[in-house]
Amino acid sequence: MPKVTIDGITVEVEPGTTILNAARQIGGDVVPPAMCYYSKLKGSGGKCRVCLVEISKGSDANPNPMPKLQASCCTPVMDGMEVKNMTSPKVQDMRKGVVEFLLINHPLDCPICDQAGECDLQNLGFKYGAEGTRYQEGRRTFDRIDIGDKIQLHMTRCILCYRCTYVADQLTDHRDHGIMNRGDASEISTYIQHAVENDFSGNMIDVCPVGALTDKTARFKSRVWFLKPYDAHRECTKCSGKVNLWAFGNEVYRVTARKDDYHEVESFICNECRFEHKNKADWTIEGPRKMEKWSVINQGKYMKAKEEVKIDTDKFLLVGREEDRNRLSMIAPEKTKK
Ligand code: SF4
Ligand code: FES
Repeated sequence: MPKVTIDGITVEVEPGTTILNAARQIGGDVVPPAMCYYSKLKGSGGKCRVCLVEISKGSDANPNPMPKLQASCCTPVMDGMEVKNMTSPKVQDMRKGVVEFLLINHPLDCPICDQAGECDLQNLGFKYGAEGTRYQEGRRTFDRIDIGDKIQLHMTRCILCYRCTYVADQLTDHRDHGIMNRGDASEISTYIQHAVENDFSGNMIDVCPVGALTDKTARFKSRVWFLKPYDAHRECTKCSGKVNLWAFGNEVYRVTARKDDYHEVESFICNECRFEHKNKADWTIEGPRKMEKWSVINQGKYMKAKEEVKIDTDKFLLVGREEDRNRLSMIAPEKTKK
């Protein structure tokens, strides 16, 4: 079994394991981020370059360092290899560059994007993003493509990671879409609408690392950090039926697959579970979902007891929005009698 040392921590792995997966066996900060690699999708990886690492020793047999940074998601470990991720200033610098590059065309529309709060690019932007942009050229624009009543495509947000095309290829029964054209003219082909009819096409939403593919049935209904995720399941003949319900009180706003520590789904779910069961009574609730990784959502620490929120009703009646004042008059009529 080859041994690899990543940021000073040594681990023994199966032959053929990539550096990224070896790092995942160690866990924590040692693990490089991944925007295109997805362990459950064959052929993914090698596109986004955020996972590049420095190989300071090739192997025991050939201890020379590799002259260039290597994509950890598609470089297999060699026995005696030494890798630097967080401990390499070169890698940190490169990652800043890649994030800047990914943001060249990606709009900064987090305030209106449904992915905000659980977006891998947003998290990377917080960690490595520059304050300003040096880009002066026009950003890419695309004709709007309607891909059906369940999934919304925002092509301007797409970072061309190819994950959704692998979902179409590997989970649906025939491939109807892919990336058309090259360079800055690349886009998800309009043929995507054929795949959207398939029972498992909703998984494109879960694998998309940014807000390019979002759930139309939950769009603009709530920011994710206002919702409580629950582990829940139901008997389903098409998939495992194991999901996360995102609810506000008793109202289920959306259903997603459960995600692991690396923001990958634990098992893909069918469109019936995702889109057609927005009623808590359809599900057996197992308990609150423990948030898997750092994100804006778990900054809200929803597992902790809530502090009581005190509203200065006098002030609120003066400056609150009309619909909020009406709501207040329903829940606390005595406050609004003035
Ligand atoms: S739409 Fe999303 S999943 Fe598909 S290629 Fe673009 S970023 Fe990747
Ligand atoms: S995750 Fe390795 S290149 Fe994208």
